[in-house]
Amino acid sequence: MSLSPKLAKLLNDQINNEMAASYSYLAMAAWFEQTPYVGFAGWMAAQSREETVHALKFYQYLVDRGAKVVLEPIGKPQHDFKSPQDVFACSLKQEEAVTAQINDLYEVAEKVRDHAAKNLLLWFLNEQMEEEKSVRDMLERLQLAGDDPASLLVLDREAGSRSTAPSSFKNGVK
Ligand code: FEO
Repeated sequence: MSLSPKLAKLLNDQINNEMAASYSYLAMAAWFEQTPYVGFAGWMAAQSREETVHALKFYQYLVDRGAKVVLEPIGKPQHDFKSPQDVFACSLKQEEAVTAQINDLYEVAEKVRDHAAKNLLLWFLNEQMEEEKSVRDMLERLQLAGDDPASLLVLDREAGSRSTAPSSFKNGVK
């Protein structure tokens, strides 16, 4: 069964959305690199790589379904932030936007009765739930820490351990 043109277009758009998210996380990592918070910088860089892997998953899916991949330009991401809390708040907003995009995609897949595409999109919906949770958890703890440098450095160390931990970052495949 070939992909419906509408679904193929939206899956192509999602490559762009994921690459934009990756670029945005890289800008967040770059912002943290200008601060003492190297752990948060690593966390954001790891997240950037994860978003690239997501884009590649959509790319490969289109290829596997015999659809044409059309890449579009990626917009300039936000570079300036007020605080670590501000960065994570932006990250959460971004993840919620991506979840809404995947939800819309799932609805279209359902409408055109493409169950194989639904399967792929379910994986992404679960992934989004996990990503929203990890960002929300860190944001809540950052809000508790407020401006206290000692508490912020504890969270920074914790965030830094993530950038080397998940196996998905080691080989670029999930
Ligand atoms: Fe792939 Fe977190 O969006």
